[in-house]
Amino acid sequence: MIIIKSRDEIKKMVKASEIVAEAILAIKGVIAPNVTTRELDQIAEAVIKSRGGEPAFKGYRGYPASICTSVNSEVVHGIPSSGVRLQEGDIVSIDLGVIYKGFIGDAAVTVPVGQIPAETERLLKITEQALYMGIEKATPDNRVSDISNAIQRFVESNGYSVVKAFVGHGVGRSLHEEPQIPNFGPPGKGPVLREGMTLAIEPMVNEGSYKVNILKDGWTAKTADGKLSAHFEHTVLVAKNHPKILTKWA
Ligand code: MF3
Ligand code: CO
Repeated sequence: MIIIKSRDEIKKMVKASEIVAEAILAIKGVIAPNVTTRELDQIAEAVIKSRGGEPAFKGYRGYPASICTSVNSEVVHGIPSSGVRLQEGDIVSIDLGVIYKGFIGDAAVTVPVGQIPAETERLLKITEQALYMGIEKATPDNRVSDISNAIQRFVESNGYSVVKAFVGHGVGRSLHEEPQIPNFGPPGKGPVLREGMTLAIEPMVNEGSYKVNILKDGWTAKTADGKLSAHFEHTVLVAKNHPKILTKWA
């Protein structure tokens, strides 16, 4: 069942999502060569708590940190570590969730470390644009796979592949609610979208093959071919005229 949120619940999701956006901005501000992903995790946790939130990922199915930090060929769910020092030319995906008064906001962004090659810049731009192509389809009376299809077509027509092993999701009191939102598939399938649904839409886009492997830590997903991967995510409210992006950071 897809949960329709009340006005009051949406207010809490708006607040949770504002904290997400603020923490992401804080992290973007410190990403630079020589910073460790552990430091990013600590900054996120400090911002989240200072605003009265709690990190939504910590302890989720045993996840050990407040954010996910996935570097270069890592796709999602990289674990922050004092042993991972960012280097000029890297890209790092930051995935961050906040609980506020029982409700969750969830977002992700891939950030360049210093100067990156133009072709890597393009991967980030296309992935972010793919997210917005998906969001545009999150309107009442559309179906879930209209989002999926818009993302896949845009990504593939630009020469990249969409990751199939992970999907977007409903979000609210739980981090993962119905429906699942794949980043691929034919249009017009799946549940009909209704006003008051809250969705985390999150394309993961690979430079090479869509295939991923999970590392021995049980969490980190990495491209099978070692090529780069990018990830952008927003928590979105399905609303009457236009989808409302709750986690907007800029
Ligand atoms: N944005 C990711 C997701 O929705 C983050 C989950 S990480 C976890 O699946 F650690 F909490 F599992
Ligand atoms: Co998510």
